[in-house]
Amino acid sequence: MSANSSKAAIHIAGTGSYLPERVLTNEELSKTVDTSDEWIVTRTGIRERRIAAEDEFTSHMATKAALKALEQAGLAAEDIQLIVVATVTPDTLTPATACHVQRNLGAHRAVAFDISAACSGFLYAMKVCKRMISDGAFENALIIGAEKLSSFLNWEDRTTCVLFGDGAGAAVLRRAQPGEGSIVATEIGTDGNLTRLIEMPGGGSACPITEKNAHLHLNAFTMQGKEVFKFAVTRMKEAAEKVIERAGWQADDIACVIPHQANLRIIDAIADRLAVPNERVFVNLHKYGNTSAAAVAIALDEAQRGGRFHRGDRIVLVVFGAGLTWAAAAVEW
Ligand code: COA
Repeated sequence: MSANSSKAAIHIAGTGSYLPERVLTNEELSKTVDTSDEWIVTRTGIRERRIAAEDEFTSHMATKAALKALEQAGLAAEDIQLIVVATVTPDTLTPATACHVQRNLGAHRAVAFDISAACSGFLYAMKVCKRMISDGAFENALIIGAEKLSSFLNWEDRTTCVLFGDGAGAAVLRRAQPGEGSIVATEIGTDGNLTRLIEMPGGGSACPITEKNAHLHLNAFTMQGKEVFKFAVTRMKEAAEKVIERAGWQADDIACVIPHQANLRIIDAIADRLAVPNERVFVNLHKYGNTSAAAVAIALDEAQRGGRFHRGDRIVLVVFGAGLTWAAAAVEW
């Protein structure tokens, strides 16, 4: 799918994020599963992750991140017309987590639905909402990436449980006023031949969880790490290059690249292939691990609030995830 020729420029008016309080370090994990801080740091760059409380759901984290984004955008919840939550760990299969967020916020005018595109979900939501606003159907949108992955991990499987964490990130989109920055180009893609590389085999209609299979951890993520790694580097590079080219930018023009936060080696490979110096690439995965759809949203918020880019700067967001899916966006802040 290619970037649209938008009827109206769409501005990111505010961002927000929320991370649960509980920190789970590699050291602590290595007491319950056969791993080590050294292995995890060397292979992934992750040092610790956050774990939501038992009674803290995906919608709760999404709501907290959304409130911060709304505050920065200077919008009240009742002003919001569209809420899209990207998640693979919804509170319930139905209703959508976005409906819970709408209620929590009191955003009674908003249409609310979820997007399931795994780690690419936040940028899928950005693309969809950009179009829905630029078409004139909606004035604004709240897009949220939120995950409680800790509820869907096999904590005895060292090949997955060390990689993920919980959290939420949000952004408010609205039509740009003269002089404001905008989302310049977007790219999204899918390869359904590779569904098997990252999946949660049970818990859906194909394999309901029953008394007989409950012990098999079928509603936990499984992954073929090496294949995913190669795919991630190739597709993220291509997606980023496409939006950079469509925006008419050069690598030197980019103030900040905000990649999916899954693995530091993947991020370094992307920076290298895009010829963007490492200091212009934002990384926070050492603190949070991979928070799937939330990761790039949290990173965008932290980079923005931390002064990693400023008004008028050119930034590139780029992600990949289960599906397999990928996405990128070129944004003039
Ligand atoms: N601690 C210690 N050892 C571990 C381990 C852990 N947590 N997880 C796996 N191992 C072992 C493996 O069993 C294997 O042992 P063996 O050689 O005796 O069979 C060994 O470490 C090497 O595993 P390998 O899979 O070759 O490691 P890797 O270099 O490919 O790194 C990943 C594994 C998962 C970190 C890496 O492949 C990766 O990050 N892939 C991308 C995954 C990703 O980004 N997923 C997110 C999708 S959104």
